Amino acid sequence: MKPIELKNDIYWVGAIDWGVRDFHGYETPRGTTYNNYLILDDEPTLIDTVKYDFADITIKNITTLIDLSKIKHVVINHIENDHATSIDKIMALAPKATVYMTERARKGLDRFFDMSGWKVKIVKNGETLTIGKRTLLFLETPMLHWPDSMVTYAREDKVLFSQDAFGQHIASSARFDDEFVTCASMWELEDAVWDYYANILMPFGQLIKAKIGEIVKAGLEIEMIAPDHGIIWRKDPGKIIQMYLDMAGGKAALSVTIIYDTMWHSTEAMAQPIAKGVNDEGLDCKVIKLRATPQSVAAKEFWKSRGTLIGSPTLNNLTFPTLAQFLANMRGLRPKNRIVGAFGSFGWGGGAVKEIYEEAKRLGLAVFEPGLQVLYKPSLEDEAKCYEFGKAFAKKVREYHATI
Ligand code: FEO
Repeated sequence: MKPIELKNDIYWVGAIDWGVRDFHGYETPRGTTYNNYLILDDEPTLIDTVKYDFADITIKNITTLIDLSKIKHVVINHIENDHATSIDKIMALAPKATVYMTERARKGLDRFFDMSGWKVKIVKNGETLTIGKRTLLFLETPMLHWPDSMVTYAREDKVLFSQDAFGQHIASSARFDDEFVTCASMWELEDAVWDYYANILMPFGQLIKAKIGEIVKAGLEIEMIAPDHGIIWRKDPGKIIQMYLDMAGGKAALSVTIIYDTMWHSTEAMAQPIAKGVNDEGLDCKVIKLRATPQSVAAKEFWKSRGTLIGSPTLNNLTFPTLAQFLANMRGLRPKNRIVGAFGSFGWGGGAVKEIYEEAKRLGLAVFEPGLQVLYKPSLEDEAKCYEFGKAFAKKVREYHATI
């Protein structure tokens, strides 16, 4: 794909990764892009690089616009490998460029590259760089989502280069939100935002709210948000900012997700009448068989719904392994403002339901107790209990939702 002009003399020069499905263990069924940007001003400036496998692609894109040796500045907003690991190839071709990054970025990048031959300038929150007609403002965003992170604001063009924030793992030939919505849908774009937020940014809601508050307080006008992944927001950047504020504030749909796994279909047989009970109480209910679903999709659906029921058979007195993995993942993501219940089948001692509640409480989530367990296989009487359990949970979710 060739460079795409975002604004006068500002170009996307990144790469599309149509094939990636495993992004450090996070499943990416839609692929992704590595976005970086070239500003052609008196002092040409590159914002970010791309994942090492795609270095030749961004170099080719840049070369169609300028000889790399003419690049004066390289801004590194974030040092994670998908954005910074082609910098050595870039610097080999742009040896006179100065690299701008935070002190924490320098410390981190130093572990990956020999930077002794590079000119490096450490920037602090609020510092600016004039590159000709334009001024770039650097805003540190520590822990959004790494300690090194910052964003860069092109003041005259009102463009925010936001690194991972506001991004999505979407591979598409569309570069902008209005183009993507035409060839796909707003639902798909928003779903990808939820997916990205849930799996990468969920633990940092308070920081996100505070940083957006700072940007608003500083009076920065934003006409375009150019993230390092996926679609660029130009039609209505206020929409994605509001989405972030909502998600950071714990927004969820008044709905239920059931996430379960099963050994001999008994827990699965419980999930069906439970879902019907939820539906009959007037709430939408999505049912996810975890073994057949990427963990990252389950995390997203957990985050989208106010209430989740986790169904697990007991295996060796413990939670079934796929669900144990899911709960471990959620421990790192630190969800808030959600209510959880548990159900499952057991053969003799039991243990899974108890363990799920212990984990939910450790996470600080609201819980709906007691859970529901059946011996070996649900009888007709058990199925009726499952249906009532689903109804009761839906009622509780509705009450809880009203308190958030
Ligand atoms: Fe897309 Fe935190 O890297």
